[in-house]
Amino acid sequence: MRLNDIVNRSAKAIPWAEGEKIPWDEPAFSKRMLREHLSQEHDAASRRFEIIEQHVNWIHHSILNEKPSTLLDLGCGPGFYVSRLAPLGHTCTGVDFSPASIEYAIKQNEVNQTGITFIQHDLRTFNYGSGYDLVMLVYGEFNTFRKPDARHILKKACGALKPDGRLLIELNSYICLHNFGLNPPGWHASQNGLFSDRPYLFMEESFWNEEMQAATCRMYIIDADSGEVQQMSDNHQAYTEDDLRLMAGECGFTKVEFYDRWPRSIDQSDDYLLMVCEK
Ligand SMILES: C[S@@+](CC[C@H](N)C(=O)[O-])C[C@H]1O[C@@H](n2cnc3c(N)ncnc32)[C@H](O)[C@@H]1O
Repeated sequence: MRLNDIVNRSAKAIPWAEGEKIPWDEPAFSKRMLREHLSQEHDAASRRFEIIEQHVNWIHHSILNEKPSTLLDLGCGPGFYVSRLAPLGHTCTGVDFSPASIEYAIKQNEVNQTGITFIQHDLRTFNYGSGYDLVMLVYGEFNTFRKPDARHILKKACGALKPDGRLLIELNSYICLHNFGLNPPGWHASQNGLFSDRPYLFMEESFWNEEMQAATCRMYIIDADSGEVQQMSDNHQAYTEDDLRLMAGECGFTKVEFYDRWPRSIDQSDDYLLMVCEK
């Protein structure tokens, strides 16, 4: 792409029409993203360990009732949740399609002998198996899937659970995504960063699609030397609690509970919504 393509872009982005999501699974991007996951300076990609440890405590005490359980972490990233849950007596599997995150998680597992199974796979096509006490998908990634994929993930998660098993999903709240879609355009320049190892300009514009109830962020990364332009797009489906209750019921769950923030956590932002589903 060239600068002219930016000038001649369409006025509005249609959700998922210009790309699925940021390229978590692209090897070089995933290496740069791993740096963001590991950083303890911010909560991008993964939250800081102090907060994850509070979430893990709550999952261990309130969701798993301190009983040794089998659990499947979907979109586990570098495995920060499962690597803390396994030493508490749980048998854990983590799945993610980021090559650098899974490589890091496997190495950490070998060093710390935590006995976790890590699998590099796309959640949309992965066979989740069966016999889990808990399936979890945290930090808002559920919203990034197109609705039919999200529904498929819910159905497969339901099928993977034991009869009394539970699904824990952390979503972005409706209001957070609505505001996200209304963000004004912005830009920054970087010597190197998440989007390139070379100097680049980053430009973004956001859209809210009322009909689809979805937010899209269209991004341009402009190489400072060559002027070459790369386009990315990130999309988020917004859900109300009623939407989610209906969808979970259609996918086989009988009981759905919501928490508007993580209990017992210093992280009190209302950008997220926890959904706990029972079969
Ligand atoms: C916001 S990060 C959260 C990581 C981890 N759950 C945490 O909180 O530390 C989202 C993760 O979902 C993964 N992901 C996104 N889409 C995926 C897909 N289709 N299949 C597998 N993993 C996916 C990304 O690679 C990334 O590691």
